[in-house]
Amino acid sequence: MTYFEKISQTQIKKDAIIMGIETSCDETAVAIIKNGREILADEIISSATEHARFGGVVPEIASRTHTTAILTATKRALESANLTLEQIDAFAVTEGAGLLGALLVGVSFAKSLAFSCNKPLVPVSHIRGHIAASYLADKDLEPPFITILASGGHTAIVAVEDYYNIKVLGSTLDDAVGEAFDKVARVLGLSYPGGPNVERLAKEGQNVIQLPKMLKNYDGSEFDFSYSGLKTAVINYVHNQKDRGVEINKADVANSFQCAAIDVLADKAIKAAKQFGYNTICVSGGVGANGYLRDTLTEKTKKSNIKLVLPEKRYCTDNGAMIGAEGYLQYLKGNFADLSLNASAVIALK
Ligand code: KG4
Ligand code: ZN
Repeated sequence: MTYFEKISQTQIKKDAIIMGIETSCDETAVAIIKNGREILADEIISSATEHARFGGVVPEIASRTHTTAILTATKRALESANLTLEQIDAFAVTEGAGLLGALLVGVSFAKSLAFSCNKPLVPVSHIRGHIAASYLADKDLEPPFITILASGGHTAIVAVEDYYNIKVLGSTLDDAVGEAFDKVARVLGLSYPGGPNVERLAKEGQNVIQLPKMLKNYDGSEFDFSYSGLKTAVINYVHNQKDRGVEINKADVANSFQCAAIDVLADKAIKAAKQFGYNTICVSGGVGANGYLRDTLTEKTKKSNIKLVLPEKRYCTDNGAMIGAEGYLQYLKGNFADLSLNASAVIALK
C-alpha cells in the first residue's frame, strides 16, 4: 500500500492541529494552527537583510537560507506549542506561487515530515493563504466578504463567496502594487524591502505631485488595476527633475505615490462591497501592512458602515500561520497530495 493510499483512508478530524510551512520567498515560516483559527506557534526567520545589499531578493540566497532555517523554525514552533511532531495531524505547505527553488525547500521538507509521520500532506496556494489570514484575525469571520489582495505578486479585489469559492472581481493588468512600491523605493534610493521604507519616508512628505489617473478611458472591469503607468510616471518624474538639475523632495514623491497607489485600492474595495452587497472587507498581502492603507480603509469603511478586518501586520506579510489556516480548510476537504507533489512558480488566482 502506498503512502497516498494509506493517507486517503485517514479519518479527517474536525479537531485538527496543522503545521503550516511557507518558503515561497525570503521568509522561512513555520506555524502550528489549531482548527484553522488558533495560533499555537508561529516562527519566522527572514533572510531580508541578506538580500538588502543586492537591492532585491536573490533566489539562490533565499533557497540556501531556507535549507538551514527550516529545521530551526520547525523546532522552535514545536517547542513553543509544547507539541511533538507526532501530535501534528497534517502538514500544509505552500506549493506556489513564488520562487521555484525556494518553494522546493518547503515542499520537500513537508513531504519528508508527512511521509515519516504518516500524516496527510496538504498543498496550499500562497494566495489563498494570504486570504485565510483574516480567519486568524477575526475568529468569528465567516464568508461572504470582499478581500483586497495586495502583495508583491498580486493585486486584486476578490469576493470570497464561501470558504472554498472565490471570485476575482478585478486584478492588475500589469505590475502588482507591492512591486510598484519596491520599484519606487529603488528609484528613490531606499533599501530593500521597499514598501515599508516608502511608507516611512511618505510620513515626512505631502501629496503634492500630480500623477496620472489609473486606467483612464479603460473599458474593462471597473475593479481592475494598472500599476505600471504609475510606477513609470514616478520614475520619469525623478529622472526629469534630475536632468533639469532640480532637487526633488523625495518625501513628497513617496507620499504622492503612496496616495495614488493606495486610494484606488480602498475605493474599489468599497465600491465592490456596495455593488455586490457585501458588508465586510478584509485586507490581505504584504501591502496590507501599509499604515496609510489601514487608516484610509478604517475611515472609509466606517463612513460606509462596512465591517473591516485588518490582520496584524505580521499576518499580512508572508507567514506560516496563514498556510496553516488555509491548510485546515483544505484538510477538511481531504485535498491531500501524494509524494509526487511539485512546487509551482505560478498559480492562478482562483
Ligand atoms: O505578501 P508579501 O509579504 O509577499 C508576496 O506574496 O509578494 O508582500 C510583499 C510586498 C513587497 O512588495 C513589499 O514591499 C510590500 O509587500 N510591503 C509593503 C509594506 N510592507 C510590505 N508595501 C507598502 N507598505 C508597507 N508597509
Ligand atoms: Zn505573500
